[in-house]
Amino acid sequence: MVNLKGKDILDGAQFSREEIEHIMDVAERLRRRLQDKPSLDLLKGYVLATLFFEPSTRTRLSFETAMHRLGGSVVGFSSAESSSTSKGETLADTIRTVDQYADVIAMRHPQVGSAREAAAVANAPVLNGGDGAGQHPTQALLDLYTVRHERGKLDGTTIVLCGDLKYGRTVHAGVELYKHYRCRLVMVAPDQLKMPAEIVARLRENGVEVEETASLEDALAKADVLYMTRIQKERFSDTAEYERLKGSYILTREMIERINPGVTIMHPLPRVNEITADVDSLKNAAYFRQVGNGVFVRMALIALVTGRI
Ligand code: NCD
Repeated sequence: MVNLKGKDILDGAQFSREEIEHIMDVAERLRRRLQDKPSLDLLKGYVLATLFFEPSTRTRLSFETAMHRLGGSVVGFSSAESSSTSKGETLADTIRTVDQYADVIAMRHPQVGSAREAAAVANAPVLNGGDGAGQHPTQALLDLYTVRHERGKLDGTTIVLCGDLKYGRTVHAGVELYKHYRCRLVMVAPDQLKMPAEIVARLRENGVEVEETASLEDALAKADVLYMTRIQKERFSDTAEYERLKGSYILTREMIERINPGVTIMHPLPRVNEITADVDSLKNAAYFRQVGNGVFVRMALIALVTGRI
């Protein structure tokens, strides 16, 4: 029996396969319930706080849309400058304050571990919308949901993760979920931006097949899913290093048509230059559908942690 009532959603490693399946199934049910009406009243009277100390387009608006479509309301802020952090308030005090207003808290913060720190002082469940280069579990769940939706299954699929695997929090959370599905993981990154060695070692110890390569073309040939990521400019202390690495991998329509026309193409977005615009009209370019799926998955999470479903 899966019961997520009162639980914080902090990192990918916290979930069992049964819980992942349950979240995806609830998301699917909510999607169906929204087919003939714009919103439900499941969370009527409940308040979600969205505390975004770092820039965001999708994650914040996706959480807010999810709450509105559940019939609840939203309070929050979208930058550290517009909160009392700019006056020197600690994260813990901000969270203790918001905890007096909200039934559930979604947050994003530049510090690794910040969501866990918030969860330690909040009574309301905390949903981690990205903690620095750490974790981004709600994105990872919507990514898995998208793979299942696009390809009909997760078990045994070959997932290629390409780009900034060092700082990318969506892939750090993602691998913790894929490991439950016997997915083969192919990791493509420049040397400086490889997946942290301790994560790769732990995955292998858990029996996950992991291959590392610097060649996108070789990896693309094997892929069921190609998950492109942005080089995380904001995590670099040396801008010259970022400038050197930012064009490392650029996926074009020509490459896909030549090497693997059936591949499902995903990206957490925002994209900078890593997928050319001519890819967008391919029917297997799934990245904007992925955005839409995020609302159903976040609806499921909000409804589950508040015990409304
Ligand atoms: C990602 C993030 O913020 O980690 N975007 C997102 O949440 N959809 C990826 C990124 O910023 O590159």
